[in-house]
Amino acid sequence: MDQTEFDKYVLKTYKRFPITLVRGRGMQVWDENGNEYLDFFPGWGSGNLGHCHPKVVAALHEQLDKIMHVPNVYYNEKQGELAKLIIADSFDGQVFFSNSGAEANEGALKLVRKRNPNKKTIITLKNSFHGRTIATVTATGQSEYQKGFDPLLGGFVYCDINDCAMLEKLMNENVAAIMLETVQGEGGIVPVTPEFMRTARELCDRFDAMLIIDEVQTGIGRTGKMFAYQHYDVQPDVMTLAKSLGGGMPIGAFVVARKYCDILQPGNHGSTFGGNPLACAAGVAVFNAIHTENLLANAVEMGDYFRNKLEELKSKSALIREVRGLGLMLGVELTKPGAKIVDKCRARNLLINCTHQTVLRLMPAINVTKKQIDRAVAIIGAALAE
Ligand SMILES: Cc1ncc(COP(=O)(O)O)c(C=O)c1O
Repeated sequence: MDQTEFDKYVLKTYKRFPITLVRGRGMQVWDENGNEYLDFFPGWGSGNLGHCHPKVVAALHEQLDKIMHVPNVYYNEKQGELAKLIIADSFDGQVFFSNSGAEANEGALKLVRKRNPNKKTIITLKNSFHGRTIATVTATGQSEYQKGFDPLLGGFVYCDINDCAMLEKLMNENVAAIMLETVQGEGGIVPVTPEFMRTARELCDRFDAMLIIDEVQTGIGRTGKMFAYQHYDVQPDVMTLAKSLGGGMPIGAFVVARKYCDILQPGNHGSTFGGNPLACAAGVAVFNAIHTENLLANAVEMGDYFRNKLEELKSKSALIREVRGLGLMLGVELTKPGAKIVDKCRARNLLINCTHQTVLRLMPAINVTKKQIDRAVAIIGAALAE
């Protein structure tokens, strides 16, 4: 189908680039004309293992031959296996599986509301991003995503990131939860400071509120730890996941600390496809690949390498204001809007993203090599120089 016919039948909720991607392997994708691209933003943050990782593909084939879907009123062994792997790498508790990040956050918000209906307030951060449903778009502290969708959900207040004094001021006994990303992704690759994270945890403890950490974009090895909160000296009460959890398959999850596991009871929450055996088989393969292929260490090493190369580029280009991030979640803040640089990179066969108008978002698969990073940096350098 050509792009004109596609546009006739598919709602235009996305600005699409004029290429059709038909094949992907590792860090590479190909369009319908056979052009090869180096993908430094695979799957919009869902490609921590790159495209079609062989372990994920094999797990999917194996599961396809057994059963494709199991309703959640029956036991589903892949779901249990994946939950156990998530808990082994995070904190003691239980997991609910959904299909997306927004849905994972919805579930987390339902859980905190249900725990204490008298606590009406939820604090999230300005410039955060938590999804596109009515609850999660309300949680998202950016008016551009909320415009036109009134009335939004009540009870949300927004704090400046890393402003401990403001957070203390907003906190009181009516607060049910503080919800934050460890590194704001859509918000321009802005990490939370250790002091702010510690303050959030302490305030939640003092005022009997829950700390929800949204790891939808930062989780599954992206920052060099399995979950980015592990860079900080805190533990969340609820952690939300999606994107790379399925290695390319749609899946989301929220993980609840053991002491809060009785809040949601049978009938309180559900999802037809959440924790589908295919998605969970892929998720099990993702954990297996990250551990057996030593990918957390690679994310740390390649994250440092990439960052240094980008700093070198900064010393040569007046267009770069700052390089920041954690592990392989890197942002290059420009002094001008970055959309044209994204186009120029794509014309040179490198796929990247620009977020928050001026921040180039670079999130290659965590099995990326130095050679691939060198190629990407050379292309970004040429695009900036043009
Ligand atoms: C931090 C964060 N939370 C939630 C979401 C929403 O995830 P999904 O698009 O799977 O609903 C995103 C998506 O970009 C995200 O980056």
